[in-house]
Amino acid sequence: MRVLGIETSCDETGVAIYEQNQGLLAHSIYSQTDIHAPFGGVVPELASRDHLQKALPMIQATIKQVRLTEKQIDGVAYTKGPGLAGALLVGAMLGRSLAFALNVPAIGVHHLEGHLLAPFLEENPPAFPFLALLVSGGHTELVKVEGLGRYSIIGDTLDDAVGEAFDKTAKLLGLGYPGGAALAQLAEQGDAKRFHFPRPMTDRPGLDFSFSGLKTFAANISREHELTAQTKADIACAFQEAVVATMVIKCRRALKETGMKRLVIAGGVGANLALRAGLQALAEKLDIKLYFPRLEFCTDNGAMIAYVGCQRLMAGEREDLAVSVYPRWPLDELR
Ligand code: KG4
Ligand code: ZN
Repeated sequence: MRVLGIETSCDETGVAIYEQNQGLLAHSIYSQTDIHAPFGGVVPELASRDHLQKALPMIQATIKQVRLTEKQIDGVAYTKGPGLAGALLVGAMLGRSLAFALNVPAIGVHHLEGHLLAPFLEENPPAFPFLALLVSGGHTELVKVEGLGRYSIIGDTLDDAVGEAFDKTAKLLGLGYPGGAALAQLAEQGDAKRFHFPRPMTDRPGLDFSFSGLKTFAANISREHELTAQTKADIACAFQEAVVATMVIKCRRALKETGMKRLVIAGGVGANLALRAGLQALAEKLDIKLYFPRLEFCTDNGAMIAYVGCQRLMAGEREDLAVSVYPRWPLDELR
């Protein structure tokens, strides 16, 4: 079965083709970052309008790129939620209508399930069960993954998502939006010893996170010091170190509690190299195996949607013709 995947939940248009035996055949991503950057955040209406402009030409180009025709698509998957309602509707209407016109089945995919299963796009994917650390702009979750559709959230953030904390701190340092990757880059020039950020919620039991305090801590330091280039780098470095240390402590706890031997890192913040290194060191210490998708499949993409769609279509699931999207859709409500 050859499945076309469409991702439009936020500010990236992603398109991919996944075949059940051959794996990923083609994918392309278009990022709207430049459109939203002047506003310091994603403007939902602009996101929807841009998906409308980009999606169909990208679908056509991606199909052509692997010398296929539309008639060789056996199913269409699109992101059904969670995400921005208008942006989701663009992909859902397009995907569902395309499937209708081609007379093939369609399936609406949970965006976070896409992130969770993105490591299956790589060689040597993990076996079930595994523990996943899902870290993106909207989510910070520890998830026990027992099989396709069998997810339980065992840790969550009480306030900001970790990517959101990266972005807000980056904004404070004048790094633009979204500034997670820029902050990580700046951190490399920082002195880790100059400032010490707290490790939120690590002094009490449990697997939940809280990141809004780190952002406030960064704001306070910024007020008390002249923001030279070096000071900015030092703040970035100490902030990132606190995030990584906190994640490592919580992952260690979750691995011990669940007895899991495999850890998957998913979501946009999974692109952070310091986080990867910290968790790699933990994995070696605990003698467990660490998995993460390649950098471009950590952030939003169509490949993960095509992959999940293919699994669910093969299992016989189908979307009916009445198109619906779920802007809010808790992962554990998914079957
Ligand atoms: O998964 P994603 O593309 O979109 C959501 O579903 O949220 O994640 C985007 C988030 C943004 O907050 C961005 O700043 C962050 O991932 N991010 C990073 C890095 N690359 C992207 N955060 C820290 N370090 C990075 N290298
Ligand atoms: Zn995402």
